[in-house]
Amino acid sequence: MCEVIAIVSGKGGVGKSTLARAAGLALSRSGKKVCLIDLDMGLRSLDILLGLQDRVVFDLADLGEGMCRLKQALVRPRDNENLALISAAQLRGGEAIGQVQLSRVVKGLKPHFDMVLIDCPAGIGRGFLNALHVSDRAVLVSVPGAVELRDAERVRGLVRHLGLADPGLVLNRVRPGDMEDEHFGLKAYREKLEGIRLLGLVPEEIPLGEEGAAGQALETAAFNLAGEERPIQEIRRPRLWKRLALAIRG
Ligand SMILES: Nc1ncnc2c1ncn2[C@@H]1O[C@H](COP(=O)(O)OP(=O)(O)OP(=O)(O)O)[C@@H](O)[C@H]1O
Ligand SMILES: [Mg+2]
Repeated sequence: MCEVIAIVSGKGGVGKSTLARAAGLALSRSGKKVCLIDLDMGLRSLDILLGLQDRVVFDLADLGEGMCRLKQALVRPRDNENLALISAAQLRGGEAIGQVQLSRVVKGLKPHFDMVLIDCPAGIGRGFLNALHVSDRAVLVSVPGAVELRDAERVRGLVRHLGLADPGLVLNRVRPGDMEDEHFGLKAYREKLEGIRLLGLVPEEIPLGEEGAAGQALETAAFNLAGEERPIQEIRRPRLWKRLALAIRG
């Protein structure tokens, strides 16, 4: 059976698309058939993050309006038959895909995929509401910060209010000092979002790569999102030699 999961956040730029990409790649490589929907109309990013930007001909708005067939809007990496992307429109806004059209698209995808991941626009506007309407559950992405935490509380509340199960949480861009911070760190998140299931704890890593600790943590989050119970690593300060190497590399 196909599961539809919305990736949501209150604040923008917290790592929703980064998680969508990582989860799409990790879960499809493990054998699941995964479709990513970029719902960030006018500000799409998954096409570039997956290196598929030159292959997008039809987008979500075209599909919603019946301008193309489902197959024509699905873009697949050449080396991965299990993964597909439906891109957001780049030159049109959120009004280009309504709830009815999105429902129709998702319904059409269900027989072909094990999982549909919807990369939502930030915030609690139309895209967020439409995505939740068609989703079975949601995952909330946030980064340590007082405002981010308050927004995460609000989004969690809305997800539950709309009748979905409590969303899982992925806390991204975490630095070692954030672990115990009472105002905006993991401790604060655990207190204010009491009972929320932590799916992943992703360290801040610049540049962000697939091989490093952040890449591994995103993979853990992806498998936990898919129902596994993988242990979550704490974020520790790198050892002295690694700090030196990083400092030398600049
Ligand atoms: N763990 C991390 N360490 C360092 N940089 C990160 C990390 N996670 C994400 N980033 C960077 O943060 C930026 C924003 O990430 P991303 O686009 O995934 O956020 P988003 O929530 O999808 O944003 P938007 O709300 O605009 O759609 C990107 O440049 C990304 O590479
Ligand atoms: Mg995004």
